[in-house]
Amino acid sequence: MFGPVTQSSAILGTLEIDRRAGVPLQTQLYRGLREAILQGRLASGLRLPATRVLARELDVARNTVVAVFEQLVDEGYLVARIGAGTVVASIRPETLLHARPAPSRAATTAPPRLSRRGLALASIRRASPGATSGRAFQVGLPALDAFPTETWARLLARRARTPTRSVLGYDYASGHPGLRGAIAAYLGAARGVSCRPEQVIVVAGAQAGLDLACRLLLDPGDAAWIEEPGYLGARGALLAASARLVPVPVDPDGIDVACGAARAPDARLVYTSPSHQLPTGATMSLPRRMALLAWAERAQAWVLEDDYDSEYRYGGRPIAAMQGIDGAGRVIYVGTFSKTMFAALRVGYLVVPPALVEPFGVAMRHTGHSAPVVIQAALGDFIADGHYTAHVRRMRVLYEGRQARLVRAARRHLGGLAKVAPADAGMHLVAALPGGSDDVDVTARAAAAGVVVRPLSTHYLGRPERTGLLLGYAGTPEREIDRGVEALAAVLRASKGSRA
Ligand SMILES: Cc1ncc(COP(=O)(O)O)c(C=O)c1O
Repeated sequence: MFGPVTQSSAILGTLEIDRRAGVPLQTQLYRGLREAILQGRLASGLRLPATRVLARELDVARNTVVAVFEQLVDEGYLVARIGAGTVVASIRPETLLHARPAPSRAATTAPPRLSRRGLALASIRRASPGATSGRAFQVGLPALDAFPTETWARLLARRARTPTRSVLGYDYASGHPGLRGAIAAYLGAARGVSCRPEQVIVVAGAQAGLDLACRLLLDPGDAAWIEEPGYLGARGALLAASARLVPVPVDPDGIDVACGAARAPDARLVYTSPSHQLPTGATMSLPRRMALLAWAERAQAWVLEDDYDSEYRYGGRPIAAMQGIDGAGRVIYVGTFSKTMFAALRVGYLVVPPALVEPFGVAMRHTGHSAPVVIQAALGDFIADGHYTAHVRRMRVLYEGRQARLVRAARRHLGGLAKVAPADAGMHLVAALPGGSDDVDVTARAAAAGVVVRPLSTHYLGRPERTGLLLGYAGTPEREIDRGVEALAAVLRASKGSRA
């Protein structure tokens, strides 16, 4: 009925056990046997040697072989028959699961048909290459080397070890109550935001918040103002909602409200980053804020206020959020922990007007925008125990120092090549390039020289008015700042030479 016992040598020939690989022998044996069965090198019906024999041949503990056989039997690759040993199953598990090998890229001929929305979204290219944390001058990253990992790990472990039923269930679609309360209290004290904890909706980063708000408030084709130049993430969220994007210029007072009202008086939503405009760094003046709020009330439009890095202000008086002076309930405030904790935490929040609490709360159950609740609970503790404000305070001092270092290095090395002016807020500076410079080309050359910058021109929806490089300094260690500026100077000199 069953085939002959496999010679141990036949199996041994198919298995590659590497004792220095750092992968447990049991895992290696399991993967090796499974591969051999899936690829037909061990044919169905074949009888495997006794575990004792195989263990001796492979020089592993018998228990290891027994555990692997048991797992493969459980998964349907092997069949164990009393008195008849263990044989390779005749019905392949992958047939049962209808699993097929993934098609190679070359084998797929026609490109997949994306929706118009999908095509628009997929065409937004981030100009910086990925996986560059810690290198000069990645934009938008906090100092990961200065994060209090030990404290965070302790709080996270405590919540993970003793979770309540609600933390493990579906109860907190709009966010963990401890965190919502902590955010409401923090925003009231630090940002002049006026809200109750129910108005705080915790989402998987500011990006999820922008996406949720745009999807819930806009119909396809609705006009929305977007700052020009502006944040690519906001462009993505608006495109995902199939909105009609209306670029509205930014000047030193922030978004030009009169221009927006003339270009798209029927707009349903305005995206703006008034505390520290991305990418120009402009802070919206109070008259502009009042003008925007008055227009939004008249037009019954929503204002999406992105307050992504307002914690980092080094001089002048802190300017409170627009949400706090909105008497008409038109502002949706967006915040994030990506700049104060770390970006991969993926926790951000919206503060919605009372009228939107119910619809946003219900929608959260259907959109998949939630952040993991165990992490939210630990973050609530981190804030409530005072670690958050202490960390932000330390980072403010650190980043101010790093900015000064960048400005000093730029003065020393970039004279005649780029202008870098100090700023009293934020985590990046803009290096203005001389007219006629191609900042995308410079970015590529800089990347080849190990320096990560972001071209200003990619932030324009229309024709770029100026070119420049965004230099993130907050997450760049001091030594890297000096090295990065010197390398950038060499790149700019070479590219100036090739233009001349
Ligand atoms: C203007 C702006 N808004 C929001 C964010 C934060 O996004 P998230 O919370 O999704 O990481 C960033 C990050 O780069 C940003 O530059």
